[in-house]
Amino acid sequence: MSEEGVLKSCNVESIRRAELVLMDGVLFPEPVQKTWDQVKRFQALPDDLLIATYPKAGTTWTQEIVDLILNDGDADKCQRAPIYDRIPFMEYVEPPPLSSGLQQIAALKPPRAIKTHLPFQLVPQSFWEQNCKVIYVARNAKDNLVSYYHFERMCLVEPEPGTFEEFFMKFIAGRVGWGSWYDHVKEWWAQKDKHRILYLFYEDMKEDPEREIKKIARFLGKDLQPETISKIVHHTSFDKMKENPMVNGLDIPDFIFDTSVSTFLRKGVVGDWKNHFSVAQNELFNKHYLQKMSDSCLQFRFQL
Ligand code: A3P
Repeated sequence: MSEEGVLKSCNVESIRRAELVLMDGVLFPEPVQKTWDQVKRFQALPDDLLIATYPKAGTTWTQEIVDLILNDGDADKCQRAPIYDRIPFMEYVEPPPLSSGLQQIAALKPPRAIKTHLPFQLVPQSFWEQNCKVIYVARNAKDNLVSYYHFERMCLVEPEPGTFEEFFMKFIAGRVGWGSWYDHVKEWWAQKDKHRILYLFYEDMKEDPEREIKKIARFLGKDLQPETISKIVHHTSFDKMKENPMVNGLDIPDFIFDTSVSTFLRKGVVGDWKNHFSVAQNELFNKHYLQKMSDSCLQFRFQL
């Protein structure tokens, strides 16, 4: 059955919003529980590349950039399958009859690229034993929060976000899927020089995509011609990706991605938090942020 056919054959009755479950000290949406023991035992290969992010930090954008770099900028090759099949989401299990991230990874030919949202301490040990390369992308907490809120509203298998006010409080308390944003970005930052980790920022990618794409290509050991880099910049602009059916999520049926609420590629900007945070929320956020980030030298930009 075609990918689209499989998606359409999802049993609407089986679609419901996930609860959060606590596993190894971190909250996850229920589907992660299904293969959790296998994920912990996952055997990475030395040439596996891991793309790690906190949810809604620009994962899909980075996945598409990486796939284009690995395919020397050949956009046709990157049309071979939706992004979630080309670079599977390791710890996630889609609603039946779709497969788990682990099954999708097993179907890939090496060298494989793999997506995860896991906090550093829960990444399967074999990635470090095999000295795998990892690209980590972080996004400023305010925009990350807003993007996560809209995603939970439109994705009907995500936990119920509640009102913006409710989600705001949950986010700062770390009571959301994949846990605390603060712990996530800080721990990956603390570990970045101990492993082969390229730590990137969404804001830098927005500011100068060419510069960041070159950084990624260098990290992957790809010596690409300037025309190829320009092509990748072009294909991975927000507008181009929004119209690309292999990345824009429009293949996901409306009973999973309710596009009447929001779209998967929503705005793709830095600073949209200003359209959402009240003055009081911003003050509360800033105070809490200072406390949470006081033990790290990690700095973010909240506007460009
Ligand atoms: P917004 O909701 O702020 O628009 P993820 O892929 O980790 O789920 O991240 C999703 C966020 O990245 C969304 O943010 C989405 O619009 C944004 N995004 C996706 N592709 C992008 C691109 N090419 N340029 C800029 N932002 C992009």
